[in-house]
Amino acid sequence: MNNATLAIDVTGLVKRFGDLVAVNNLALQVRRGEIYGFLGPNGSGKTTTIRMLCGLLTPDGGSGTCLGYDVIRETRQIKRQVGYMTQRFSLYEDLTIRENLDFTARIYGMDNRNEAVERSLERLGLADRQKQLAGTLSGGWKQRLALAACMLHEPQLLLLDEPTAGVDPKARRDFWDEIHRLAGEGITVLVSTHYMDEAERCHRLAYIAYGHLLAQGTVAEVVENSGIVTWMVECSDVYVLGAQLRGLPGISQVVPFGNALHVSGTDKDLLEQSISPFREQPGCRWAPIQPGLEDVFIQMMEGAKPNV
Ligand SMILES: Nc1ncnc2c1ncn2[C@@H]1O[C@H](COP(=O)(O)OP(=O)(O)O)[C@@H](O)[C@H]1O
Ligand SMILES: [Mg+2]
Repeated sequence: MNNATLAIDVTGLVKRFGDLVAVNNLALQVRRGEIYGFLGPNGSGKTTTIRMLCGLLTPDGGSGTCLGYDVIRETRQIKRQVGYMTQRFSLYEDLTIRENLDFTARIYGMDNRNEAVERSLERLGLADRQKQLAGTLSGGWKQRLALAACMLHEPQLLLLDEPTAGVDPKARRDFWDEIHRLAGEGITVLVSTHYMDEAERCHRLAYIAYGHLLAQGTVAEVVENSGIVTWMVECSDVYVLGAQLRGLPGISQVVPFGNALHVSGTDKDLLEQSISPFREQPGCRWAPIQPGLEDVFIQMMEGAKPNV
């Protein structure tokens, strides 16, 4: 794959802050027009990576391209074609939707400001509400306005840093429908999130912890490659059973889901040996199930080590 098919193609990215290696030898390949999820616990280096990709932060090591431009030398060109929605972005609550967009366009020094604002209002379905004060918008509409603001200059690539943190499920769904619509138009989207349902709506995703890339691929590939095996058990007292199972050889996670437990591990035989005495217990129903992304990520995080 080359620049024609890859929007982001970087290898060996490193960023240090003093003794801390915030991003450690990270390679990332994102295809044009895809929605790429960026997952990992807080402090794992997602924001730092995003800032290196859009030219706001100079890597201490590594190389590659973003939209075909060199991430070290051609940051000016990259910035022009990338829309970056920062984590905890903020808008001016006492300005209207239109005024917010107009103000942003002025900061960018856009010469076709009115056209750009009009286009952005139309494109994100904000035209009818353009006179509404941003402070009176619901969380979902605020999100959409922030997206409109980072799309004023018609970027090819969107870098969205936890755009839906704290937003209710319906608004998150609307926001994601919007992202899919934009991807359908050929825009590439790299989006960081902590929500598993959002991860499942990405074409592909990466999981990082302590600055290391731990997994990359489609949801199915990530689950498959994790090697995790999960059994579900339904029983009358999940807490008593849970306490008995925790800590047994081959069992790394015991998680209650209502009246059931999900019991996971990476060594299939050892896990099955450990649960076998409990499989005869009356009132318990055991079945192997497909592990969820969350089980996979928690497992990976526990296996990862800090760099300091
Ligand atoms: N400007 C900075 N100076 C020092 N440390 C930083 C700076 N930016 C980020 N870090 C540290 O780098 C690590 C990765 O941070 P970040 O990229 O924000 O992670 P994430 O976005 O995944 O939560 C964290 O330990 C954070 O405290
Ligand atoms: Mg962050």
